[in-house]
Amino acid sequence: MKHITDSTVLNNGVHMPWFGLGTFKAEGAEVANAVTTALELGYRSIDTAAVYGNEEEVGQSIASSGVARDSLFVTTKVWNSDQGYDTTLKAFDTSCKKLGLDIIDLYLIHWPGKDKYKDTWRALERLYEEGRVRAIGVSNFQIHHLEELRKDSGIVPAVNQVELHPRFIQKELHDYCVQHQIQIEAWAPLMKGRLQDNELLQDIAGKHGKTVPQVILRWGLQNRIVIIPKSVTPSRIRENSEIFDFELSAEEVSSISALDAGERIGTDPDKLMF
Ligand SMILES: NC(=O)c1ccc[n+]([C@@H]2O[C@H](COP(=O)([O-])OP(=O)(O)OC[C@H]3O[C@@H](n4cnc5c(N)ncnc54)[C@H](OP(=O)(O)O)[C@@H]3O)[C@@H](O)[C@H]2O)c1
Repeated sequence: MKHITDSTVLNNGVHMPWFGLGTFKAEGAEVANAVTTALELGYRSIDTAAVYGNEEEVGQSIASSGVARDSLFVTTKVWNSDQGYDTTLKAFDTSCKKLGLDIIDLYLIHWPGKDKYKDTWRALERLYEEGRVRAIGVSNFQIHHLEELRKDSGIVPAVNQVELHPRFIQKELHDYCVQHQIQIEAWAPLMKGRLQDNELLQDIAGKHGKTVPQVILRWGLQNRIVIIPKSVTPSRIRENSEIFDFELSAEEVSSISALDAGERIGTDPDKLMF
């Protein structure tokens, strides 16, 4: 991984950049400016979701960027209240309209919930078969959810986007995804900024002349994890992208992984029942 546009090849052959911009909790002009800045800096992957309420702004910034559509990778997600077969198809149309796109690169089920995700997945399969999405995947799925899908679906999710950072490396889930050719993608890859004071990370950062966020993101890349750090701050959007010109040693990667404390900062998917 030497360049910002370097990609992983998903289980259906589609290329997805290892690196992109997250947009959670960013709205209005703030998110529009962040996407514009990111695209100017060479970011080619943007992660949004219906529930973020920013698909229109994301779409407008993409349209005015002048970046060719086929070199961009846009992810959005179906929200919990839209789960179900017909409701998902409708939600997809709404997301496309807001984004101003005919085809979405990656469409994800945002959370598994309790008992609708199989119907939702059938809707995603239909969208995929109709060519309206280039890849379909899931988010916040545990191994047992993935096993359930495997029982009656012919299409293996291309991606599982989950909370993942040095304090919560999700080894078992990550290994399962590797084994089943499901690309793991980290949300909150920076643990939302909570690792800035960590001494080990500061020490490694000092040795490489890099910052703590850059070391954390590089650790993600070297573990073959897709990362989508969010920032609306232009200097940080740049900082987060400057991670393709250095390499952590195997020992450094292992020592960062050893920070794992099973520490989730977001919701436990098994507790979010709807
Ligand atoms: N699928 C899901 O359920 C789910 C859940 C959560 C998030 N996500 C996706 O994953 C993306 C990333 O996760 P996240 O936004 O929760 O967390 P994150 O990327 O780990 O952290 C974002 C926070 O860190 C700050 N930050 C960013 N770069 C920094 C830097 N270089 N130095 C210091 N602080 C920095 C940002 O501040 P500023 O913006 O103020 O600069 C923001 O407060 C989201 O934006 C969203 O697209 C998905």
